[in-house]
Amino acid sequence: MNVIWSEHIQGVMTLYLSRKLRFDDMFFEQYGRAFQLDADAELKILEIGCGPGALAEALHRWYPKARITAVDRDSRFISFAKANVPGIEFLECDATQLPFADDTFDVTISNTVQEHIKPTAFWGEQRRVLRPGGVCLCLSARKGLHCTAKCLEPTADEIAFWDSIPQSESNIGKYGVCRFPMSEAELPASMEAHGFADVRTGYAVVDLTPDAPKYPASMAEAMIEALRQNDLEAVLSAHSPQADKILNVVNAKYDERLRLYREGKKQWDTSVSVTMILRGIKR
Ligand SMILES: C[S@@+](CC[C@H](N)C(=O)[O-])C[C@H]1O[C@@H](n2cnc3c(N)ncnc32)[C@H](O)[C@@H]1O
Repeated sequence: MNVIWSEHIQGVMTLYLSRKLRFDDMFFEQYGRAFQLDADAELKILEIGCGPGALAEALHRWYPKARITAVDRDSRFISFAKANVPGIEFLECDATQLPFADDTFDVTISNTVQEHIKPTAFWGEQRRVLRPGGVCLCLSARKGLHCTAKCLEPTADEIAFWDSIPQSESNIGKYGVCRFPMSEAELPASMEAHGFADVRTGYAVVDLTPDAPKYPASMAEAMIEALRQNDLEAVLSAHSPQADKILNVVNAKYDERLRLYREGKKQWDTSVSVTMILRGIKR
């Protein structure tokens, strides 16, 4: 059982809730324009490094005729996805040794996975399982913007808590996270160098500002809850005897943020993510 990512890097709910927001139908137009996939075709789509399954779930809504398979090597993500995301085949396996025959899929796709896998294996395995003329889509997070609400800033108790946790230089180096980062120019060049033609780039910008009037209350509150889960899972992952006290502190802060939202007291905290979307064709 491999739970390296979900245990040490990002928890299930942190990934699932943040991605569910980023792949909300409100933002489909931007993704759809870059994907250029036929929504009426019975496409066979493979998602690599699917985590808890929020992108696969969105693809199932956006391309209802497609048959979607999604893989990740973290067992906890795959169990969560199997239990919570219907209509998709989830499989636990390594993206560098995919258990599929050559030329199986019409489309491969991944979100924030490329930087963790050696390029020859990342592109090579997707190229192998794609049929000739098949589409490879690679979504890659770029630098975004983040501004915290005053009521969510770290309290003295939280600062003392984090100061008491031995710093994990750690997990990132230890587990090989982000070993193969690439710039906006290097990424399409790498895709071309690994056998993909007609490479194109596009960008999706997702603005998560709870107080923005364009968002319904359900979406605004989901933004606040996604941040809460991120902070709660971070505290739990520290495995400290002080965790319970800090979890209460975190919950109190987010309860306050929700109260302010519901009373219309705008804080204008925001998180804007920029996702680069590469599209290439298997030659
Ligand atoms: C940053 S997370 C992104 C997860 C998901 N794509 C999302 O956006 O929520 C990176 C994911 O890649 C997976 N991963 C990393 N290396 C992998 C490999 N060699 N084979 C399969 N999955 C891998 C991790 O387990 C993790 O779920």
